Amino acid sequence: MEPVSFGVVGVGGYARVHLHAVKVLEKEGLGKLSSVVIRNPSKYKDEIARLEGKNVNIYKSFEDMLENEAGNVEIIALPVAIHQHKDMTITALKAGFNVLVEKPPAVTIQDLDEMIRVERESRGFCAVGFQSQSENTVRGLKKRICGGKLGEIREVVVKGRWKRLDSYYERNAWAGKFIYDGKYVLDGTVANPLSHYLMNGLYFASMKWGETASPVRVRAELYRAHRIEGEDTSCLEVEVENGARVFFFATLCGPTNEMPVHEIVGSKGTAKWTKGQDVHIEYGNGEVEIIKDDGADERIEVFRNAARYLRGVDSKLNCTLSMTRPFVLTLNGAYESAGTIRDIPKRYLTIKKEGDSVSTLINGIVEIIDEASEQRKLYSDLGVEWAYPTRYFSLKDYRFFKMSL
Ligand SMILES: NC(=O)c1ccc[n+]([C@@H]2O[C@H](COP(=O)([O-])OP(=O)(O)OC[C@H]3O[C@@H](n4cnc5c(N)ncnc54)[C@H](OP(=O)(O)O)[C@@H]3O)[C@@H](O)[C@H]2O)c1
Repeated sequence: MEPVSFGVVGVGGYARVHLHAVKVLEKEGLGKLSSVVIRNPSKYKDEIARLEGKNVNIYKSFEDMLENEAGNVEIIALPVAIHQHKDMTITALKAGFNVLVEKPPAVTIQDLDEMIRVERESRGFCAVGFQSQSENTVRGLKKRICGGKLGEIREVVVKGRWKRLDSYYERNAWAGKFIYDGKYVLDGTVANPLSHYLMNGLYFASMKWGETASPVRVRAELYRAHRIEGEDTSCLEVEVENGARVFFFATLCGPTNEMPVHEIVGSKGTAKWTKGQDVHIEYGNGEVEIIKDDGADERIEVFRNAARYLRGVDSKLNCTLSMTRPFVLTLNGAYESAGTIRDIPKRYLTIKKEGDSVSTLINGIVEIIDEASEQRKLYSDLGVEWAYPTRYFSLKDYRFFKMSL
């Protein structure tokens, strides 16, 4: 297939992963890096020297790239800050480009709906960087779910426990923010670092290929242990359209970084998948099936899929804007249900210096999340001392998120 021409906005932060992915496709003859936007040249002297040596067009602004690359760049990759996703995606689609936007594509349902509408009216497409949907294990399990091998899906339980130091929140101006630059960011476990796993929960809860299950109502608790505006610890119970329940337990205040764990319970079997490992399925008739992880880097697969889709080799994008609508609805419903983000008092935390930064641990969080996921209960249901009960929030006809803390 003819190599697909990419333009990447930014060269720092997660943009490095995008540049690497395009480089891998370039080696395979499937893609090429045509242009990048570097808005702060003094910050990226080495990158500029390297890219100039490779004949990559370097622009000082996104608008310059759009103006000059029509007919050359085919897919614009947007590994930019969350609050920039909507406007930049829409601008690129309207200018006739295809887009690969990072996750979450938007953090309010009104923004996502606008993006979906503009994509429909445009000639192009917008792929989303939720990369789990490009993993062979996740896709293999989804195929079996859609084929009815696990029966009716009843519960999906997801646990994510990561450890993020203060330096994580100091890396840019929007990290840990609820609102930045007048726009919602909702940065936290649900919208950002562990969002892949909530997305997976909704993906596995749907028995339709290429779809995620739509939430009917959500009950959620949001907390912060770090001195941030956003949340760093959450729990959600999501009732979806087919009656299944999705549970999501997450923290960025764990003692270590653990690979997130998924448990999918169906009427005919149960599947377990820990990120990076094989899927184990135990069927009701006693049979066991393993789906082997093929070892591919799913972040590269996102780019491969977009390139192959553009050339008509793949018939579908692995993650579309529409597929993320249940995720964004659930995210908004979680904030509506929680009503606010509660501070976890210092007496429940261990805060200490670590290297050049500071770590924040919620005491006992590993056991709390294990118990909550085993019992299918939220933290307040368990009587956790720092937890506050919340109510279900109905997402029927929900179209607009507007909330302040
Ligand atoms: N899929 C995943 O697993 C994954 C993992 C991590 C992050 N992400 C996503 O990746 C995105 C970026 O996250 P991050 O933490 O890397 O953010 P970040 O630290 O803010 O980095 C954003 C980068 O984009 C550049 N940029 C933003 N607007 C630009 C513009 N108009 N023109 C040129 N460059 C521009 C910035 O350039 P300057 O340095 O010049 O400011 C910076 O290099 C977010 O959506 C995040 O959710 C995804």
